[in-house]
Amino acid sequence: MHVNRKLAAVAASAAALSLVLSACAAGSTPGDKPSLRTHEDVTVYTWWASGVEKQGLDKLAEVFEQQHPGITFVNDGVMGGGGSSTSKEYLQTRLETQDPPDTFAAHAGAELDDYIEGGFIQDLTPLYKKLGLKEVFPKSLMDQLKTQDGKIYSVPSNIHRANLLWANPAVLEKHGLDTSGQYEDLDSFIADLETLKQAGVEYPLSVANEWPQVHLLETVLLGELGAEAYDGLWDGTTDWNGPEVTAALEDYKQLLSFSNPTRNEMEWDAASTMVVEGKSAFNIMGDWALPVYAAEGRQYGKDYVVVPSPGTNGVFDFLADSFTMSTGILDEDAARAWLETVSSKEGQLEFNRIKGSIPARTDVDPGQFNEYQKTAFESFNNDPIVSSVAHGAAVPVSQLTKITAAAVAFEKDGDVAKLQAALAASAG
Ligand code: GAL
Repeated sequence: MHVNRKLAAVAASAAALSLVLSACAAGSTPGDKPSLRTHEDVTVYTWWASGVEKQGLDKLAEVFEQQHPGITFVNDGVMGGGGSSTSKEYLQTRLETQDPPDTFAAHAGAELDDYIEGGFIQDLTPLYKKLGLKEVFPKSLMDQLKTQDGKIYSVPSNIHRANLLWANPAVLEKHGLDTSGQYEDLDSFIADLETLKQAGVEYPLSVANEWPQVHLLETVLLGELGAEAYDGLWDGTTDWNGPEVTAALEDYKQLLSFSNPTRNEMEWDAASTMVVEGKSAFNIMGDWALPVYAAEGRQYGKDYVVVPSPGTNGVFDFLADSFTMSTGILDEDAARAWLETVSSKEGQLEFNRIKGSIPARTDVDPGQFNEYQKTAFESFNNDPIVSSVAHGAAVPVSQLTKITAAAVAFEKDGDVAKLQAALAASAG
């Protein structure tokens, strides 16, 4: 693997090798092994391994190689959108076997807790200082990034909005429905799904496997409970066993009943494609779906619409992708160079224009982004912001794993009381 390959290249003797390995295992300190740095490449782990997701990463890699011509970008990622359990497990194994990528993508917020506790990632506070990053990221994001002791462990590349309903206006128009896709609440949304189904649209809502189901569930909880009570689910101030949660879970059950039975075999982007192709009228997904809709010259507002998911208008369900620096790596300078590009104005501009998200930096001109993205800037800057659970902002990986298991079981048995009890237990 990467580290071993480099070690083989530089190890002059077994004694030198064991010294390096013990330094790696203990976590490295900048400057303690200058003779072993090669600076020749940086290994970057993400789950943006194919299709539209890879386009953004490729662009960022291009900017990186322009900004740091002496260092080669090595794509060290794996398939598994959303940081699916498979891709997370793969990363975890790499970390535990001391074969870390130099830097890996993880969501800003609670998702980092387990990596910090495990000693797998390094404190980047000095890098923030050096690059003046505290001044360029919004306070709301800095609050997510800071641990209780004030340290910062990752550099955000972007801000995604999760609570979005994507719709095919032609399908809606054909069946006499409002083509804006805007729904004040879940009840009116469910009523339209029913109308579409009666009219012969077999699966009016497209849904994909695992994390997209948790994603759907989170937007239903937000739509039913509102921002404050939704927040309370993650900080313990909202009772998981309350009647509002039951009502949300009943709604969620109904939504699944209007979706494609192939959902467990389907990746998120295939579910988006069902809307593009007019096989479904709706999909609920974050704005990383934008490139799927914008492909082949399809136009926002005409060929597709995207609006806050039912009942969530005026709230921004937030997540941010961010990059860490692993402990025990040989090329800290190369990793720092990558993080510098991730945080740079140009990196954020080029990456986000493709990715569908908005820059985490506040000094990138919104005028350079498309019409949907302008609405995201507007909402992020003005609306209350809540944290996404499916995408690591609200809860640590260990809790999300339990929530995902509960959603997977529910998809099979449809038992609302059991789901509610499992969700309540996941918080403990
Ligand atoms: C999210 C991630 C996005 C996008 C999406 C689908 O968790 O933050 O950047 O990759 O999953 O894979």
